[in-house]
Amino acid sequence: MPSWIFGGSGSGSFWMQFPRLVVILSSLSGLVSGFSGTDVSAHDLMSKYPLIDGHNDLALKLRILHNNRLSQINLHNVSKLATDISRLRAGHVQAQMFAAYVVCQAQNKDAVMLTLEQIDVIRRMCTEYEDLELVTSAEGLKNSSPKIACLISVEGGHSIDSSLSVLRTFYQLGVRSIALTHTCNTPWAESSSTHHKFYQRENNSLTYFGKLFQSNTLLMNQAVVEEMNRLGMIVDLSHSSWDTAKAALKISKAPVIFSHSSSYSICNHSRNVPDQLLHALKRNRGLIMVNLYSEFIACGKEANISVVADHFDHIKRVIGAESVGIGGDYEGAANFPQGLEDVSKYPALIQELLLRNWREDELAGVLRMNFLRVFEEVERVRDELSGTLPSEVQISPQKVQNACRLDLSHLRGQLRGHQSHTPTLPRAHHGPLEPQSLLVWATVLLICSLLPLY
Ligand SMILES: *[C@@H]1O[C@H](CO)[C@@H](O)[C@H](O)[C@H]1NC(C)=O
Ligand SMILES: *[C@@H]1O[C@H](CO)[C@@H](O)[C@H](O)[C@H]1NC(C)=O
Ligand SMILES: *[C@@H]1O[C@H](CO)[C@@H](O)[C@H](O)[C@H]1NC(C)=O
Ligand SMILES: *[C@@H]1O[C@H](CO)[C@@H](O)[C@H](O)[C@H]1NC(C)=O
Ligand SMILES: [Zn+2]
Repeated sequence: MPSWIFGGSGSGSFWMQFPRLVVILSSLSGLVSGFSGTDVSAHDLMSKYPLIDGHNDLALKLRILHNNRLSQINLHNVSKLATDISRLRAGHVQAQMFAAYVVCQAQNKDAVMLTLEQIDVIRRMCTEYEDLELVTSAEGLKNSSPKIACLISVEGGHSIDSSLSVLRTFYQLGVRSIALTHTCNTPWAESSSTHHKFYQRENNSLTYFGKLFQSNTLLMNQAVVEEMNRLGMIVDLSHSSWDTAKAALKISKAPVIFSHSSSYSICNHSRNVPDQLLHALKRNRGLIMVNLYSEFIACGKEANISVVADHFDHIKRVIGAESVGIGGDYEGAANFPQGLEDVSKYPALIQELLLRNWREDELAGVLRMNFLRVFEEVERVRDELSGTLPSEVQISPQKVQNACRLDLSHLRGQLRGHQSHTPTLPRAHHGPLEPQSLLVWATVLLICSLLPLY
């Protein structure tokens, strides 16, 4: 029911309560008849505006449970997980951003390869199942129904190993969003978590991004954000420290998202977003997609839908419903609120927001229109920057404390010395770098394979 009907003066509290009363009464009659009236309106609304969800870690579960052997699982019905095609359908999830995520322990080791494997498994799942469709544009997203659209996001800057070439290659593979960090710092972005020891600043003063960080770090951060703007990739600030988020919000020419973060005012977890950053997000025309994980909702293992709705109400009050979305984080976390245990349960959340007098147009935004607006604007910025050449900014080797990196300039020197002793081989089959680089690569791979994985 639109709230303007009750916007007049006078009759006050009774009428303000009225929509809620109607809904409660119809729910009660629904219980009696076994068919809930409120439920129908949430389902009706979601049929009209099916959900685009910001974050799901199904690919991580495919890695953990099956080492990405897709043939071992039937994605229509996976009872041990919270996500499968039948329940995505039941929950009116029409589009899902799937995270290509690899653990921070892979940073400076095989993070890039592991990320490629996660991208591969998402691409496979979204092309081999008839119900799913891989999309890479706002237009594709809008036209994907009745299929469930898959978007690929990379979760954590460690996945690009500080290389803009890798970033661009991910784009070519269909990745349309990257989170600047996961739970580890990169040489150029700071995480909200202090769990990992990568790139700790002196005296652990991790909270002064852009102040304490040396210039190359800031330059690289700016280069990553600008390159994402140029490519048309959505910058995701979930998991970033507040200072990194603030810096990125200042740099980005396009709207950014928090793909799976909630309100710090409601639950003061470091993964959540404080009001001050929400204001900056609003100025950026960006989007916060509320994470449903109990730990971020209620700062504990137990939570309920009512507290989830408190996050939505709070963010709406601070920056407006047009800045809110949903990023469930299913498969990425262990405890979800009672009534929101899996991806089929989203209608229960929409039902609660209806009870709290969220208007249809506001919920249409939360469910999909806000994300579509952001994606379209990111693409518009890309088009505006079409005259800009790819960035050739490179991180200084000292900044990347990576034993597995090859110093190619050094190799070039070695190569000249060796070339006179090397028998000449037909050029067409043999690039000048090959014999030496193969040897070096073999050594590097050997060293890397000996490093402990913890
Ligand atoms: C999914 O599989 C479980 C058991 O493996 C079965 O009980 C359930 O009915 C199935 N659900 C659907 C929607 O097929
Ligand atoms: C770190 O601590 C040492 C000793 O307390 C101090 O001399 C130094 O200036 C500090 N460095 C930074 C970057 O704060
Ligand atoms: C979060 O809030 C709780 C109680 O509301 C308080 O005990 C705790 O110190 C707060 N944590 C932070 C990081 O502010
Ligand atoms: C939801 O959880 C909050 C906080 O734990 C609690 O105060 C409230 O009573 C719960 N609401 C319902 C409907 O269970
Ligand atoms: Zn995450």
